[in-house]
Amino acid sequence: MACLRRSICRSALSATAVAVAVAAMGSSVCRGQGTSVTQTLRQAADDRLLIGAAVMSEQLEKPKLAALIADQFNCLTGENEFKPLPTEPERGQFDFGPADKIIAFAQQHNMKVVGHNLCWHQQSPKWMFAGEDGKPLPREQALANLKEHIDGVVGHFRGKVIGWDVVNEAISDSPDQYLRNTPARKAIGDDYIARAFEFAHAADPDAQLYYNDYNDEQPGKRESVLRLVRELKAQNIPIYGVGIQGHWILKYAADTIPKLDQTITALNDAGVKAMISELDIDVLPRNTSGANISASEHGANPYVQGLPHDVAMAQADFYRKIFEVVNKHGDGVTRVTFWGTHDGTSWLNDWPVRGRTDYPLLWTRDLQPKPAFTAVLQTLEAGGGGK
Ligand code: XIL
Repeated sequence: MACLRRSICRSALSATAVAVAVAAMGSSVCRGQGTSVTQTLRQAADDRLLIGAAVMSEQLEKPKLAALIADQFNCLTGENEFKPLPTEPERGQFDFGPADKIIAFAQQHNMKVVGHNLCWHQQSPKWMFAGEDGKPLPREQALANLKEHIDGVVGHFRGKVIGWDVVNEAISDSPDQYLRNTPARKAIGDDYIARAFEFAHAADPDAQLYYNDYNDEQPGKRESVLRLVRELKAQNIPIYGVGIQGHWILKYAADTIPKLDQTITALNDAGVKAMISELDIDVLPRNTSGANISASEHGANPYVQGLPHDVAMAQADFYRKIFEVVNKHGDGVTRVTFWGTHDGTSWLNDWPVRGRTDYPLLWTRDLQPKPAFTAVLQTLEAGGGGK
């Protein structure tokens, strides 16, 4: 504990932050881990790397959690509030209230914001690509709806976000099919992805444009992502980067690490930056790999009383290895964003099994740093990344 207290005193944290950090000190922070020279992830990442968290606006109204977010991260993603359904529930009726709160918080604390997302088959209003009868709209009407949505949303946040997940999860999970048959694809055709990127670029020429998906480190899906990148680039569409979501499972750590490494290399070779855009490490058993949010299964809930120490250490080791890969690729990786902050905020408490007690993130439910926090902090300090 002494090493943490020393480094807190050395660092330039706000008084609130010091109070929160000291109150939150867990013995795991310093145990056998050596001394950290920085105290927060954003200090350790310095200007080399964006280190982010997904948040919901209501979380920013909780003082202790808000202080932790402001102190630890230099980048925010809206976990839900920038998505098509909340931003344009009815055609032409935009609602930016909750997302604007995230922007205001980020501005106040000198953080970047990433917009997530503009086109997805989930959390999207039905009217955009289908008629009242549920059948796909005619192509021109669907394209007009997509353009109107992107113009409205990207226009509103122009200059306030650094970039957009333009299209989310468009690639099929089945190895013999390239694109997922989404409502947008049914109405518009395969080129809905290219059109979405063009609309976004026209609405904010300075915004970075990303394609975002889960399982893109897996060799099969990786090939499809690379094909998409090549196709977009062949049409001179300015895709800046690919978000590797990173909803990983502790049990598969040894399998995931080399695949992540290879995928970053392949993306960089294809001329795009890599990002880990939704990082969490599930410690509970599940059969669903990736992150298809409509998946649902029954499963055990083994750690209701707390996370066993050996599991916490194994999770820290997986996080350390992920950040070692990030360091290795230098400015080929521009950002790592965690999908939540403390364990209680994680969507994995309800997916793919409802009502479980999961521990995927860096802080405990009472905001104590876990061994995973120390592992990430120290690996970040070792350098790497880049914007
Ligand atoms: C999830 C949110 O975390 C949940 O709160 C919501 O109920 C469903 O969506 N891939 C994505 C994210 O791109 O938008 C998803 O977020 C998780 C999987």
